[in-house]
Amino acid sequence: MISALRGMKDHLPPNGQTYEYIIKICEEVAKNYGYSFIMTPHLEQTALFRRSVGESSDIVGKEMYQFIDKGENDVCLRPEGTAGTVRAFIEAKLDRAGGVRRYFYHGSMFRYERPQKGRLREFHQFGCECFNEPSVYEDASVILMINEIFSRLNIKTSLKINSLGDSSCMPAYREKLLKFLSSYEALICEDCKRRKDTNPIRVLDCKEQKCQEIYKDAPLIIDNLSAECKADFDKLQEILTANGIKFEIDSRLVRGLDYYCKTAFEFISDEIGSQSAVAGGGRYDKLVEYLGGKSSYGVGFAMGVERIMEILSSRENSTDREGIYICALDKEGLDIIHQAGINLRKKHKTNISYEAKNLQKHLKNADNLNAEIFLCMGENELKEGKIWYKNLKNKVEKTINLNELEGVLGE
Ligand code: HAM
Repeated sequence: MISALRGMKDHLPPNGQTYEYIIKICEEVAKNYGYSFIMTPHLEQTALFRRSVGESSDIVGKEMYQFIDKGENDVCLRPEGTAGTVRAFIEAKLDRAGGVRRYFYHGSMFRYERPQKGRLREFHQFGCECFNEPSVYEDASVILMINEIFSRLNIKTSLKINSLGDSSCMPAYREKLLKFLSSYEALICEDCKRRKDTNPIRVLDCKEQKCQEIYKDAPLIIDNLSAECKADFDKLQEILTANGIKFEIDSRLVRGLDYYCKTAFEFISDEIGSQSAVAGGGRYDKLVEYLGGKSSYGVGFAMGVERIMEILSSRENSTDREGIYICALDKEGLDIIHQAGINLRKKHKTNISYEAKNLQKHLKNADNLNAEIFLCMGENELKEGKIWYKNLKNKVEKTINLNELEGVLGE
């Protein structure tokens, strides 16, 4: 028996339907916010992620599904969606065309992490990226959009925000932080030593207890923002407050990817254990230029679909029953239920059973398929041109004329 790889998951029904449901809600909301669907390849040149996600990140440092393909190209399964979207944006010369562009995507991402609850090696993200909009109103809109998605999914989250400054304040802050770190060089962990040389601000994100003790006294970017960055961060808070969105300022929230500036945020759920971040994102105004394009603003987010599935499937009736199950008790009824089923399929999701078996077995089958409407032709119904109807959701039962079937089932 060949099993799935560690950290990789099958999504059988009804889990697959939960996935579809989440994506449907995300798409509806993203479209209302002006976003359009794009698809980019799962496989990209490794250099793309090295340059964007960054050498100091755990993703590039430890977690890439990287290999040399048959043409000797150094390639990598995408660990996230932003880098590929930016590459596609530049490659289509949209950086030169100007104008605001908003894209959404969903699909598999790959990170060779240690698998645990809520942490997979292949997982799915729904993400949005907005290009060429410098206004902090867009940062706020992105957060409002995520909030709307979670509210439609009926999921409670808490929001953490931070500002990481930009090139007007980050270099001076970096010097301050490096000076602070130089006194603790011998005490910090190996990862932090690496981060210190590549992207020092990421040390604040270290999970090691001994490092966290040291960083309690570290200078924070939030106290060192330029006037413009501070004004934007204040405005962001003002817009969120005006929209009734509660948030906490987490001055140590630096995110696990190197490309952020100014706004950074994370949505947390307390329903799924330690891997509690359900969405994260922020602004990345230098990334397009950094990947070889014409300087363009960028802001976006991604949410972890499996983590959201985990929340929804822990609830009762998480996936609503849907569709029809049509069957017969005896072989003589098969011609009729087949034809009726084919007609129903023009408008409704319909499972036709070609096995003549007893009622209990059919009902069990319909239940396994999560059907809403059960239609069964027995001996009497066959004689009378009728069919037995049971709504498996509200338990209503009746016998109906076959020629009235469509009317009863509606649109
Ligand atoms: P990220 O925070 O690395 O950001 O990932 C976004 C979300 O993906 C996380 O909040 C989490 O829900 C989910 N996730 C991450 N790793 C795993 C995993 N191993 N297993 C299951 N779920 C996971 C990004 O990827 C950025 N590209 C977001 C972004 C878009 N920023 C700007 N634009």
